[in-house]
Amino acid sequence: MHPFAQRLETRTLAEENDIQVEAWYPLEHADPELLENEVLVEIAENHNKTVPQTILRWFMPEGIATVPGSTNPEHIAENIDIFDFELSDDEIEQIRDLDKGEAGRYFNLDYDIMGGFFGNLDE
Ligand SMILES: NC(=O)c1ccc[n+]([C@@H]2O[C@H](COP(=O)([O-])OP(=O)(O)OC[C@H]3O[C@@H](n4cnc5c(N)ncnc54)[C@H](OP(=O)(O)O)[C@@H]3O)[C@@H](O)[C@H]2O)c1
Repeated sequence: MHPFAQRLETRTLAEENDIQVEAWYPLEHADPELLENEVLVEIAENHNKTVPQTILRWFMPEGIATVPGSTNPEHIAENIDIFDFELSDDEIEQIRDLDKGEAGRYFNLDYDIMGGFFGNLDE
């Protein structure tokens, strides 16, 4: 889950069943299309923050726990430094509008392929 793939149906289902959603790949694996997106760049500049910080901060009021990955100590420090600013309601909406639904997903697994990992899900 990331700003281009906001997984609204899954989140509604999770909310109805009291399940906490976690975002793995919250930075879309650092895809430049996301990290250089002009809406995100402008919002980040509004707060003197980076785009990864802006994305990770945006997830918080959405109620999503994030799992950003990094092997770079500077990025790790940057990614935790997100508690000294807040996005406006308008900025939150602008990021919500970046959702591309299924088309935004980094990869898709259908149930036939998942069955190979987890056995027969119908059972
Ligand atoms: N179980 C599953 O099905 C599943 C699926 C997806 C992901 N995961 C796990 O989820 C975790 C996160 O996934 P991920 O690491 O692939 O995705 P991610 O967090 O979306 O992206 C990580 C990429 O972003 C870069 N990055 C991180 N912080 C940055 C920053 N502040 N500025 C610029 N670039 C930054 C990292 O490079 P640097 O190292 O250079 O910072 C890395 O290339 C990993 O532990 C992964 O194994 C699990």
